[in-house]
Amino acid sequence: MVDTETTETRRSALVTGSARGIGREVAVQLARAGYDVCVNCSSDKGLADATAFSDSLAADYGVRSIAVAANVALADEARELVERACEAFGRLDVVVNNAGITRDKLVARMKEEDFDAVIDVNLKGTFNCCKAAAKVMAKQRYGRLIQMSSVVGLHGNAGQANYAASKAGVVGLTLSLAKELASRNVTANAIAPGFIETDMTDALSDAQKEAIAKEIPVGRFGHVSDIARAVVFLASEEAGYITGQVLTVDGGLSL
Ligand code: NAI
Repeated sequence: MVDTETTETRRSALVTGSARGIGREVAVQLARAGYDVCVNCSSDKGLADATAFSDSLAADYGVRSIAVAANVALADEARELVERACEAFGRLDVVVNNAGITRDKLVARMKEEDFDAVIDVNLKGTFNCCKAAAKVMAKQRYGRLIQMSSVVGLHGNAGQANYAASKAGVVGLTLSLAKELASRNVTANAIAPGFIETDMTDALSDAQKEAIAKEIPVGRFGHVSDIARAVVFLASEEAGYITGQVLTVDGGLSL
């Protein structure tokens, strides 16, 4: 049930690729913190599930929530996604650019389409959503753009040249947005997760997971909540003096 007295001042957020994994937990934690939340899935195929999820956020946390199918790699769909969130909530305070894919191969074997697909979703998709949202945020003189980069974008990884390039690109995009938008009270920051337990890392074999866990000083893969809590902090009004930063959340992996 929405309290109409607080609706006007309530902050709202859009989380791309939020039907599962990190994005889903980010949506939950933002709703829990009182944000109206726009859930996003990449196509109509996932819309029924995404709608059930957004309904559960509304019921569990007393916020407004909608689900919108949009492929962020397509500029028109990304723009419509931002517009739908603005229409539903009357404003848009936080965009979490979380949608991402991998197409892992060594460079020698990587096809051009594997490279393009990853850049299109991870980097161009982030650009598309930031561009549409920045316009709204600059006008309302408030905003938080939070991008999901990766430790792979900072340090590289054999077999992930396309992914690393896309995530390094996200950092450059974020730093530039931070400089362009600071005077409008809009911050732009990135989070660089290490290895987090999701469908994306489920592709690794048990032996690979064990070997990786040994390299992580904290001794385990991260939980989706480890990332979602960092997002909620950067999304908060209190984080307004933090911009153009990359917050590594990796259990010490990159130390
Ligand atoms: P995931 O594969 O579980 O979820 C990714 C989500 O993005 C899915 O819901 C998918 O449908 C959505 N998506 C993919 N393409 C899309 C498109 N074109 N338009 C809209 N949505 C789209 O992945 P996970 O692990 O939850 O990752 C979330 C983000 O965090 C990604 O950007 C990923 O690169 C990043 N990340 C994940 C790490 C991990 O260890 N899981 C480590 C570092 C970064």
